[in-house]
Amino acid sequence: MTPNNQVSSQVSSSSSTQVSAALSTEVATQRLAAIEQRIQQACDKAGRNRASVHLLAVSKTFPLEAVLDMAAAGQTRFGENYLQESIDKITQLAASPNQAGLQTPLEWHFIGPIQSNKTRPIAEHFDWVHSVDRLKIAQRLSEQRPDRLGPLNVLIQVNTSGEDSKSGVHPAEVEALALAIQQLPRLQLRGLMTIPSNTDDMVKLRGEFLLCADLQKKLQLDTLSMGMSSDLELAIECGSTCVRVGTALFGQRT
Ligand SMILES: Cc1ncc(COP(=O)(O)O)c(C=O)c1O
Repeated sequence: MTPNNQVSSQVSSSSSTQVSAALSTEVATQRLAAIEQRIQQACDKAGRNRASVHLLAVSKTFPLEAVLDMAAAGQTRFGENYLQESIDKITQLAASPNQAGLQTPLEWHFIGPIQSNKTRPIAEHFDWVHSVDRLKIAQRLSEQRPDRLGPLNVLIQVNTSGEDSKSGVHPAEVEALALAIQQLPRLQLRGLMTIPSNTDDMVKLRGEFLLCADLQKKLQLDTLSMGMSSDLELAIECGSTCVRVGTALFGQRT
């Protein structure tokens, strides 16, 4: 049993918003291996180094036990969409004396929509934010980032689908926002993120991923967050450096 297994078996979750099931370390290990194989094959096909793509495990709606099962299987980066649920998990883990059993500290990424009056807990608890879509949010995150922590890594979310219902900055406005964010002292602008159209149309998806990749290249930023359970291969082919995978790791959300 690894130290992370010990943590997993001793921490229990309390949040009422978490309704999906925990995993076992065995299931977590199998699912992680299957995703690892998909990422490796996509990198091989695209002629890319495996180390150029990070896997973010999207644990929204899943309890801390499931996160710790994934951690025991070797996963260290976790993505969360819902603020209260994620703060519950992060603080519960921090408060547990067993957290020292984790071989590597977990890295938390906020990937959900951000309300301007909810920025403080994000600035205080997360390592990365993928969903910055306006300057006001970036300014508040910078002001509220505690001095004891390093600069908060941020990505600008780009609306590449053109759908009004989708969050994100219009592609034409990305450069100006990037320049403004780069002036903020407590943020480190690392790159761009996109959620493409909800479609099986590969041509459309490819066009949206490539639009984001072109912007990232122009801005000379190192991170491109795109690709989920169903489209991570295409995203890697188009240059993604961070695939955000939920369902294929944790199962269907209920
Ligand atoms: C922003 C974002 N990225 C990634 C995911 C993971 O998607 P999937 O479960 O299809 O892997 C989600 C899930 O809701 C999400 O909201």
